[in-house]
Amino acid sequence: MRDVNKVKKRIEELREIINYHNYRYYVLDSPEISDAEYDELMRELRQLEAEHPELVTPDSPTQRIGAPPVEAFGVVEHPQPLLSLANAFSYEELAAWHKRVSNLLGGRQFDLVCEPKIDGLAVALTYVDGLLVTGATRGDGYRGENITQNLRTIRSIPLSVPGEAPPRFEVRGEVYLPKAGFKKLNEERAKEELPLFANPRNAAAGSVRQLDSSITARRPLDIFIYGLGWAEGKAVPNTHWEIMQYLKSLGFKINPNIALRRSLDEAEKYHQSWVESREKFPYEADGIVVKVNSIALQQELGTVAHEPRWAIAYKFPAIQGTTKLIDIGINVGRTGSLNPYAILEPVRVGGVVISSAALHNEEDIHRKDIRIGDWVVVQRAGDVIPEIVEPIVSRRTGKEKIFSMPGRCPVCGSEVIKPEGEAMHRCTNAACPSQALERIKHFVSRGAMDIDGVGEKLCQALFEAGLVKDAADLYYLSKEQLLDLERMADKSASNVLNSIAESKDRSLARVIFALGILHVGEQYAELLAEQFHSIDQMAEASQEDLSTIPSIGPKIAESIVAFFRQKGNRQIIEKLRKAGVRLEREKVKEAQSKELPLAGKEFVLTGKLESFSRPEAEAKIKALGGKAGSDVTRKTSYVVVGTDPGSKLAKAEKLGIKTLSQAEFLELLDKAGGKLQKLS
Ligand code: IVH
Repeated sequence: MRDVNKVKKRIEELREIINYHNYRYYVLDSPEISDAEYDELMRELRQLEAEHPELVTPDSPTQRIGAPPVEAFGVVEHPQPLLSLANAFSYEELAAWHKRVSNLLGGRQFDLVCEPKIDGLAVALTYVDGLLVTGATRGDGYRGENITQNLRTIRSIPLSVPGEAPPRFEVRGEVYLPKAGFKKLNEERAKEELPLFANPRNAAAGSVRQLDSSITARRPLDIFIYGLGWAEGKAVPNTHWEIMQYLKSLGFKINPNIALRRSLDEAEKYHQSWVESREKFPYEADGIVVKVNSIALQQELGTVAHEPRWAIAYKFPAIQGTTKLIDIGINVGRTGSLNPYAILEPVRVGGVVISSAALHNEEDIHRKDIRIGDWVVVQRAGDVIPEIVEPIVSRRTGKEKIFSMPGRCPVCGSEVIKPEGEAMHRCTNAACPSQALERIKHFVSRGAMDIDGVGEKLCQALFEAGLVKDAADLYYLSKEQLLDLERMADKSASNVLNSIAESKDRSLARVIFALGILHVGEQYAELLAEQFHSIDQMAEASQEDLSTIPSIGPKIAESIVAFFRQKGNRQIIEKLRKAGVRLEREKVKEAQSKELPLAGKEFVLTGKLESFSRPEAEAKIKALGGKAGSDVTRKTSYVVVGTDPGSKLAKAEKLGIKTLSQAEFLELLDKAGGKLQKLS
């Protein structure tokens, strides 16, 4: 009995520590511990919960990870409707709104709150007795979808709130995908040849409305809370500004750029500064929202036709332009897909010159009725590839040409097909040079073999010189061959060869990803590397074997089998093997790390260290096989005490854990280091 109590206490302690670090990382963007330390805390909590399932609670940080797919979303009734906003597209329209409010209030003075209008998806989060119980979409404003399970995966949404929070309340906010996350998601989708998301808003909405919340969990979604829906059982502040500070104190993520403004002119200045600097922000905003600060005045003003009179969306000017579509070009991708793109007459849009735009596939071009020679409206949003919004039909002369995909590959002249159920046309020739070059570029890229110094340009030069016909040829290059290339100096040639040699030891997951199997992106590659201990074992798997792996559907299974069936691909694998590229999981390393001098020893550092920074000290410990923990527990072997130690020292003394002075720590590292040299 006592034991269970101890476990319960540790579980609670872990949850508190993890929640604190979650808050530092996801809400404040200011982590205090390394990812590895965080993972270790999560691992301990998961293990304790697995051993004691009766102690799992819905607000435990372990419960954020996806749950089994649900049949369909349930419906949630909103006790107070979620309203939409009226728009102002110019200063005049904003001034007219301000005047109207002023008149309705009989000329009384009122403050304004200005905040960015985030381009995402509105959600309502309900907390009862300190716990998140429901998360819902806006829906029609009165009834939304129950997406609680998915919203729980967003780390900046607190699963529980402190005791001083009202017993029942609802907050509202905007779920969004930061620009960088959006870009990465689309890059991954492009590699897996999945349709791209048109903008971060669609990507966020698509991610949140997944029936399988483990997919949502893998998307880097975030949230800004922008208001309190309602609260019961406790008084809350009476201005919007103070409510936002109050919500912040309860642990909610509030936009740091929200500002209290006294007048219409000040609101205009706020808008102007955003128009100038919006590109710098890590998220997409399509305007600002101006709100009357006093809640009493908001109530007096009330709503009209689903829109509050006390707030308005003051939009940013659209970053659009018009230009002429000169032609439609075709890129042939790594898997043979024919990707059309627009060749435009260069035009300046929002300070950037655009001369090409994405055109996803033939169907898309026809759906929008885009013709070669058309005047078109182009649009760019943040870092997103520019796109064509629509043709300007009224400017047609009759000379425009309707586009159709070529029947032969523009690179190698082979037949082009459009597989059943797919949007893309494909070149049927596996030896198509464009595929080969794209495959080599993919092989050396960051997430794949990550060969430093071998970029797209060098790949192209090596390919054109006939030195590298497939990725495996990279491992057979000689220095003389490299030196024959234009602008290749002796030192760079050595560096390139070193990087190539170094890549022979990449993880199995990277090798699988680097092979460029259709539909096998980074995440699937990792999953496959967990299932198979070598490329050979994976190559032998039948479609049925592959389909039994969770998350691997028939499309991926078929693509893997087809990949290994191709003789050319098998030859590349043989060449990689002969060159010494590791095609197995790294078992050897695991065994070795058990033999390292500090294996099994866990260190916790407290206070400031004189000889090196904390990350350096941790790296040294890890290099010698030890672990660096963040929290003193019974499993801790040593607590290293620096200057001005924190509470960890007291805890170590209480638990009777050995402490090391800085000198003793250095000595121990030295000794272990000496041992390491002897070992190797
Ligand atoms: S206030 C009645 N504040 O814009 C007040 N909305 O067009 C309504 N939005 O549905 C919301 N950022 O999804 C508010 N700082 C912000 C916002 C914001 C984005 C969205 C929200 C709303 C839509 C209205």
